[in-house]
Amino acid sequence: MKITWFGHSCFLLEGSKRILIDPFLSQNPLAPVKPEDVDADIILVTHGHGDHLGDAAEISKRCKAPVICIYELSIILGKRGVEAIGMNIGGTYRLEDVSVTLVKAVHSADVVSGDEIISAGNPVGFVINMDGVVIYHAGDTDVFMDMKLIGEIYRPRIAMLPIGDFYTMGIRGALKAIELLKPEIVIPMHYNTFPPIKQNPEEFKREAEKLGVKVIILKPGESFEI
Ligand code: NI
Ligand code: MN
Repeated sequence: MKITWFGHSCFLLEGSKRILIDPFLSQNPLAPVKPEDVDADIILVTHGHGDHLGDAAEISKRCKAPVICIYELSIILGKRGVEAIGMNIGGTYRLEDVSVTLVKAVHSADVVSGDEIISAGNPVGFVINMDGVVIYHAGDTDVFMDMKLIGEIYRPRIAMLPIGDFYTMGIRGALKAIELLKPEIVIPMHYNTFPPIKQNPEEFKREAEKLGVKVIILKPGESFEI
């Protein structure tokens, strides 16, 4: 599988399917690609905030790729003409050699539309199993004890964790998340996009590797193979 980071929380996983997560591209000053340059078979959106929902609607329509998300957000997207598969926490979507499970995240999740705040269900993380590789994308969240359950039930090999602080957990929380999840590889995300979430990923890497995990710091646009 090839894993590419497009900055913030946006990843493209390319295996037997192309899975795009939280495609925040056109409004992200650090995104290395435009929405029209990214193709996907399935799009996953962790919650309705603009820096995650991003360009999902546009890419979904162009690629005829359904958006998998929490039920209430799927209703909002449906009204905007997007094919959305609305699920709930604990549920698993399956397509050939891919499964996607919605798991808990501790955050807020409403959609802001002009002056309006539209209730959009709970935020989620995703556990993705593609071709036998299990990846946990935490979405926006603080650390929470049930990450231990996520680790025990799904045994993710790779964990994508926010480290930016301010809107999510910071480095200290992410280190505790590693202890609970026990992954083999950690990829930090949701940092340095905006001034309030400025972090030094090398500091995170130094501390995390003391816990026995491998940390892969990607630059926006960079990939690695697993
Ligand atoms: Ni958020
Ligand atoms: Mn966010």
